[in-house]
Amino acid sequence: MGSRYLPLDAYPFAMNRIYLDHAASTPLAPEVWEAMLPFLQDHYGNPSSTHAHGRQLRNAIEEARRNIARHLGAQPSEIIFTSGGTEADNMAIQGIVEAYQVKTIISSPIEHHAVTHCIEKLEAEGRIEAIWLTPLPDGNISLDELAAVLKAHPSSLVSIMHANNELGTITDLEAIGKLCKEAGAFFHSDTVQTMTNVRYHLASLPVDMIAASAHKFNGPKGVGFLYVKKGISMPSLITGGSQERGHRAGTENVAAIVGMGRALSMCYDRFDEKHDHLEHLRSYMREQLMEKIPGVSFNGAADDSYAMPTVLNVTFPDSVEEGMMLFQLDLEGVSVSGGSACQSGAQTGSHVLQGIGKSAAEIGRSVRFSFGWQNTKEEIDVVVGKLHTMAGKAVLSHDNKMS
Ligand SMILES: Cc1ncc(COP(=O)(O)O)c(C=O)c1O
Repeated sequence: MGSRYLPLDAYPFAMNRIYLDHAASTPLAPEVWEAMLPFLQDHYGNPSSTHAHGRQLRNAIEEARRNIARHLGAQPSEIIFTSGGTEADNMAIQGIVEAYQVKTIISSPIEHHAVTHCIEKLEAEGRIEAIWLTPLPDGNISLDELAAVLKAHPSSLVSIMHANNELGTITDLEAIGKLCKEAGAFFHSDTVQTMTNVRYHLASLPVDMIAASAHKFNGPKGVGFLYVKKGISMPSLITGGSQERGHRAGTENVAAIVGMGRALSMCYDRFDEKHDHLEHLRSYMREQLMEKIPGVSFNGAADDSYAMPTVLNVTFPDSVEEGMMLFQLDLEGVSVSGGSACQSGAQTGSHVLQGIGKSAAEIGRSVRFSFGWQNTKEEIDVVVGKLHTMAGKAVLSHDNKMS
């Protein structure tokens, strides 16, 4: 029996397109799909059942857990499977507030909405006071400001992401964690963008919780995990059975968990190769843009020592009409993300670019390019060529308007 769905080449819009939006989601790796398939087709028991069908699935889940823990320098019992990054962030934040009656959460306004909206909700319910640090222009936080806030609010929860999803700026987890430990605060970090792009040894890192999502590293959508350091209580967000040792009720998504384990292994086993490839693409695109489009500028880290190789956030010169780059790139077969309201369908533009002080006009001319395994230098040439043409046309029409 054939698939109910048409092959990709039956969708004219998907053919020959260039995908530079890997910070949004990545393609499922073929070997991940292969690892998942038996758990979608053949192994249909319930992992909570004690008979052979159930035990087979339980073993697969525990093997994925051990594998993930081994790669991250953690213990298997510290990994809780979730439905993705959003749930993991929510579990960490709400769980600490519930278990320890924490009354203050310190975070940054340019965190992902999985964090900011969760904190805002707790504040609206009167359960906590939120303190928002002032983001630095590169997307980092000021350690001095954090230290001062922690001095006044020592028993807090701090939630700061490891790398920003729009800017790619990497924060210093070690330094933030040290400040939290000294103050006696809990520290959660959203590591959704860094997982498999940065190496971790969680046993020695001063971080209490980290969140991850498989679809950001060539695994399936709808699965992720929360790491919770041994000794920290983490109540379940969902009420029901005692799956995940009581931390997350509900029958496990076995195929997705197996796929996530395989995807994480694949990425860490080929870490250097992937890292070098992405870094090469990012640097090459930046050089080409600087050469071909005068007035282009870049948002995020001031140098590559604390920049993710996956992301290049670009603001095009003011001759370019706001929102046009994204729209035209899409028409030209290039999938990317941007900060403007018209692209995201949101009420306002990117809260991240706003948070680092960009004007609405600059936000409207900004595009995030994000790279993956399958991207090539040739694709970058094609995209830069299109951008060069678009920017050139924009200059011409701008000059015409001016004259
Ligand atoms: C930094 C960050 N945190 C959290 C999430 C949410 O993860 P998920 O899509 O698995 O819910 C994302 C996804 O875009 C992200 O980039």
